[in-house]
Amino acid sequence: MCGIVGVTADPDQVPNVMPMLVQGLKRLEYRGYDSAGFAFIECGSYNLKVFKNRGKIDEVVNQYMVSNYCAVAGIAHTRWATHGEPNQVNAHPHLDCDSEIAVVHNGIIKNFAELREWLVEKGHQFRSDTDTEVVAHLLEHFNREENDFFTAFKKTLQMIEGAYALAIIYRGEPSRIYFARNVSPLLIGLGIGFNMLSSDIPSMLAYTRKFIVLNDGEYGYIEPYKVYIERDGELVEWRRRVTTITWSLEDAEKGGYPHYMLKEIMEQPRVLYETYTGLVSSNEVEKAAELLLGANKIFITGAGTSYHASLVFMYYSSLFAKEPVIPFIASEYTTYSRLADENTALIVVSQSGETIDSLQALRAFKNRGAKIIAISNVIGSSIPRESDRTIYTRAGPEIGVAATKTFLTQVLALTFLALRLGVDKGIITKSEYRELIERLKKAGEAASISIEKSSRIIERLVMKLKESRNMYILGRELGVPLAYEGALKVKEVSYIHAEAYPAGESKHGPIALVEPGFPVVFLGTPPLENLKEKLQGNVMEMKARGASTIIIGVKGYEDIRGADIVINTGEWSELLAPYAITPPLQLLAYRLAVILGRDPDKPRNLAKTVTVE
Ligand code: M6R
Repeated sequence: MCGIVGVTADPDQVPNVMPMLVQGLKRLEYRGYDSAGFAFIECGSYNLKVFKNRGKIDEVVNQYMVSNYCAVAGIAHTRWATHGEPNQVNAHPHLDCDSEIAVVHNGIIKNFAELREWLVEKGHQFRSDTDTEVVAHLLEHFNREENDFFTAFKKTLQMIEGAYALAIIYRGEPSRIYFARNVSPLLIGLGIGFNMLSSDIPSMLAYTRKFIVLNDGEYGYIEPYKVYIERDGELVEWRRRVTTITWSLEDAEKGGYPHYMLKEIMEQPRVLYETYTGLVSSNEVEKAAELLLGANKIFITGAGTSYHASLVFMYYSSLFAKEPVIPFIASEYTTYSRLADENTALIVVSQSGETIDSLQALRAFKNRGAKIIAISNVIGSSIPRESDRTIYTRAGPEIGVAATKTFLTQVLALTFLALRLGVDKGIITKSEYRELIERLKKAGEAASISIEKSSRIIERLVMKLKESRNMYILGRELGVPLAYEGALKVKEVSYIHAEAYPAGESKHGPIALVEPGFPVVFLGTPPLENLKEKLQGNVMEMKARGASTIIIGVKGYEDIRGADIVINTGEWSELLAPYAITPPLQLLAYRLAVILGRDPDKPRNLAKTVTVE
């Protein structure tokens, strides 16, 4: 899981593409950041130059003073290591023996070991441990045989198996960049006097708003004034596939906040409203609910945060539609897909639409005839494209590796879906449905009020928690998936070990760890009449063992006995509680990361989009 970018330009229009390469690559850093590299055709000399090393993009750019060079075309890569440790030789681009061909790659070439053996027998000398390097040598091999680089490229593609987004530059054709896509995302950005390639849209937004989303199996090349795409040897007519994106560049940048994560937490009120208006003015939810209605088994899946949103759906589906739903973690799909048939529906939740575990779950269910509904934030990504129906969240690009705004917009979209299922099944009346949808309009307001009410207390709370090595986050019913999500946020950005449990379950083992000062955060969700007394009991159990107790709850939990700190997020019903309870947890994680000197936008060992199983 890596990010790639490529630019080729007419020097009369764009005298130097280097700033575009560097800036474009920096916006892809969320996809991996253990090494980076550049290959470009130098202005004037038309030599192929390559700089690459272990480290973040800025470190590599500064080390080689990459920005001082002038280029007419180039490719670049930011890496998250899969094959081979992160070091200079394994950093991309990879070269052929004569250093005439440079390749950057996102994905995994599954059959690289056999190909490498075959190439070594033919005398090719490998420099790295990566799967990608075989592509450079295959190109070299076939180019010698064919004396035509495009033919060599097509022959190479026939040899490789696996997932790839490839960008290739060849010294013999200095203004052309070859590309191919299979599974890993790749888009073309169309400019005036230049064209570019990238793994995502935000990295190209500063230069163009016109894009072509490449489909699996497509390959070709770009030149400053030409885009050529083929699939299975046939020319692809792409002009009608050009989409114009209206996201502002500012949407994809930090907007004055020190970190993307904070910006993305703070923009939740707005994006919830935008998602709400998008959903009421489209028929995406109705179309998806139709499909659920025809199913006799409903599964829902996702990874990480998206799985937690799936658990919220299970809750609302039981509440509003009396519909049993089977949730599962996407990577565990084998156990569940066995149960699927043509009467099954699977909801796949994925903000990026590219998570390979979720995509594999989708494919396993689809192979058994199941109908698929995607919940995604990225138009044209793989999961929506392979699904029967899609409900889009309208969160805008999320750059911070930790999912924040996309979680609550997923919850909103899934709540719409549960309500629609409820009315279609006759569990709630049409007027109840209309009223509940109307009330959901306040999701953004709930987030906004909660942020306002909790920000200061969280700042004080982190002073108390910053020395802790562990913490529990406990909830009941709707509070359980929200607790899981809160614990994931704390873990991934602050590196404090946070574990979530249903509060009632804490007595069955986890309480053994509690000793004086051990922090336990309780989530006080509605309905109070069912949950408050039980949660009160759980607080007292923890207090009796000396725990430091914190309540993040809706109005009504302020008078809980035994609580050291209470954050009252306002008066919110079951329908709106997720939007109020979640932001303080996100802020807690964020502030802990900052006070502990971690980078909340780029937590260690993580990448925004996980495209390896
Ligand atoms: O793009 P997806 O929603 O499919 O991503 C799923 C997970 O990789 C993602 O939620 C991950 O757990 C985040 N780091 C959570 O903050």
